[in-house]
Amino acid sequence: MNRTRSRALYERARGLMPGGVSSPVRAYDPYPTYITRARGSRLWDVDENELIDCCMGFGPLILGHAHPAVVEAVREQAGKGMLYGAPIEQEVELAELVRKHHPNMEMMRFVSSGTEATMHAIRLARGATGRKLIVKMEGCFHGAHDSVLVRAGSGATTHSSPDSAGVPEEAAANTLLVPFNDISAVERALIENRDRVAAVILEPVMGNVGPVLPNEGYLEQLRELTLEHGVLLIFDEVITGFRLAMGGARSYFNVEPDITTLGKVLGGGLPIGAFGASEGLMSHISPLGKVYQAGTFSGNPLSLSAGLAAVRTLEREGHQELGRRGEIMREGLARIIQERGLPYQVAGVGSMFQLFMTDRPVRNYRDALTSDTRTFMRLFHALLERGVYIPPSQFETCFLSTAHSDDDVRRMIKAYDDALGALE
Ligand SMILES: Cc1ncc(COP(=O)(O)O)c(C=O)c1O
Repeated sequence: MNRTRSRALYERARGLMPGGVSSPVRAYDPYPTYITRARGSRLWDVDENELIDCCMGFGPLILGHAHPAVVEAVREQAGKGMLYGAPIEQEVELAELVRKHHPNMEMMRFVSSGTEATMHAIRLARGATGRKLIVKMEGCFHGAHDSVLVRAGSGATTHSSPDSAGVPEEAAANTLLVPFNDISAVERALIENRDRVAAVILEPVMGNVGPVLPNEGYLEQLRELTLEHGVLLIFDEVITGFRLAMGGARSYFNVEPDITTLGKVLGGGLPIGAFGASEGLMSHISPLGKVYQAGTFSGNPLSLSAGLAAVRTLEREGHQELGRRGEIMREGLARIIQERGLPYQVAGVGSMFQLFMTDRPVRNYRDALTSDTRTFMRLFHALLERGVYIPPSQFETCFLSTAHSDDDVRRMIKAYDDALGALE
C-alpha cells in the first residue's frame, strides 16, 4: 500500500502538533493515515487508498459518512448563517426529539462536546446535592476534564496516561474509583463516604477500553444502591445514546438514571454534547439556578441541524439491521478465532464490537489491560494493508453504521481472517 503522502504530511505535522495530531487517539506508529474524503462506509486516504471504515469518527457516524440528509441539512443551514448567539427553532425540535426517546431528560442543555456534557453533569450533581465526591468506574472515559481523568480509558490508557499529569491531587481526590461490574465496591464506597457522594457516573456499556457489557442485574443494582444512599446516577451515553437504541442504554437495559449525557451520534458528525435530567434537577442550571454552564458554540445551528437530520433519519431506519450486521460481524470473528485456535475474546453489542487479544473474558478495565496491545497494533496495520480501517487501539470500540452492507461485513471478516493469518 502506497502511503507516501500520509508520511510526508506527518513529517510536517509532527513539529506543529504534539504527536502530529489534534487528539491523541489518532496517533500511532509509524504515522497516521491522512484522510481526504469519505462516503457511506468508505474512507479514502491522501494516497487514494480506499478503506472500509469501522472507526466511524470514533462513533458519531451511525448513518455512515456524508449521509445525504445530513449533508443537505448542513448545506441549507450554512447558507443561512453559522451562528446567531440566539436560540433557534432546530434547538426546540431536537430537544423535543431527544425527550421523546429519553423521557428522563425532561430538560436538557446542548453543549459542544461529550467532555462538556459530563463536566456539566457532574457540576450539576455537585451543585444540586451540595456534595463533592463522585464515584467513577476504572477505565470509563468521560472526556478530558479534571474530575474524570482518573484511571480513564480511551487514548489516556492507550498512551499510558490514565491518570493525567496536570490534574491537581485535590481534584483527583474527589473522584473515588471502583471496578466496573463490581457492585460491592460501589456499596463500600458509598458506605465509607456516607452523605459525601454527589453521583456515581459510568458508561452503562463501557466503550473506551473496547466494549464491555454490564453483568446481568448490575445496572439495576446500581440504581437501587444510589437511590438508597440519596446519590445521583449519571449514565454517560455519549457513545450508547442513539447507538444501542433510540433511547440508548437506558431503554436497552430498562434502567433510569437521574442524569444522562449524550454526544457523538446526536450531532450527526458535527460537534455536540447534551446533558439532561428531571425538571427539578435541571432547574439548578443558570439562569434558573446557581449551577453555571455556558458556551459560545453551545447549541450551534450547524450541529443542531445535522443532529436533527441524523436522529430523524435514524428514527425512520431503526436499529434492527444495524444490530443484525453487528451480530454477523461478531459471529464471524468468533468463528475465525476458533478455527485458528486463538484464545482471544470477541466482545460487543448492537453495532459495537472489538477483538480483545487476551485469553480472559473482559468484564472490567483490569481484564482489558491483560490484552496483548503490541499484537493488536500489528493486527491494526495488517487490516489497514487489507483495506480495513479500525480505531488504532485495543482500548477503543469498532463501530458499524447503517451504510455498512452485508458485503462490507463479509469483506471485513475475510480481512480479519487474512490479517490474523499473517500474524501467525
Ligand atoms: C463515553 C464518553 N463520554 C465522553 C466522551 C467525550 O466526548 P468528546 O470527545 O465529544 O468530548 C467520550 C469520547 O469518546 C466518550 O466515549
